[in-house]
Amino acid sequence: MKEYVIIVAAGSGKRMGAAIPKQFLQLAGKPILLHTMEKFLKHNPNIGIVLVLNAEYVAFWQELCHTLNIQIKHEIVCGGKERFHSVKNGLDAITEEDAIVAIHDAVRPLVSLKTIENCFLMACEKGAAVPVLHLTDSLRVTSNEGSAPVDRSKYRMVQTPQCFQINILRQAYEQPFNDSFTDDASVVEAFGEHIHLLEGNRENIKITDPVDLRMAEAMLMD
Ligand code: C5P
Repeated sequence: MKEYVIIVAAGSGKRMGAAIPKQFLQLAGKPILLHTMEKFLKHNPNIGIVLVLNAEYVAFWQELCHTLNIQIKHEIVCGGKERFHSVKNGLDAITEEDAIVAIHDAVRPLVSLKTIENCFLMACEKGAAVPVLHLTDSLRVTSNEGSAPVDRSKYRMVQTPQCFQINILRQAYEQPFNDSFTDDASVVEAFGEHIHLLEGNRENIKITDPVDLRMAEAMLMD
């Protein structure tokens, strides 16, 4: 079945404190976003890539593609106010009736080929697949009274790519925006679809602050 990836890169990335959004920062000699695109192409050279950018950075990215001679075929779409609106715009750019769509944070260049492949396979079979990790640190819940330990074995950290059969995704994204929609799984689940979890890879960090950038550099050197 035809595969697509919607790479969401329309966030402002303010927590990095850099002059440009974090997805354009250099990681081991090239923009983080380029690493991410190359990873999905390595998984499937025929994958359809939809790149969602903040309208203010479209010209910047096109200039970067020109300067770095980036030849990767991709469709650029403008983002929206929240991640939800950015994904919806990306989805509108796909006309295929039957496809599996991955939605991936631009700032997760260290996703493994195994995670990508497993997510596509599980979505193809079951409809909706999301990579997660078990927690290794202890967890506490805080309140006005103080804090209390919680059973970490009940919790999972959620990563991307989150993969779906396109008909499920299209219907789910017809719902009006809700503040509880923090990722695609929450949107699809609110539509009534079961989310299937699979083990992600630990290196697949969301590069959010300068420490993450240093960790990503170190992991790429391995
Ligand atoms: O803000 P957060 O770190 O959760 O963003 C996750 C991903 O969603 C990032 O890749 C960011 O660029 C993207 N995003 C987007 N449109 C928005 C907000 C975030 O594409 N309006």
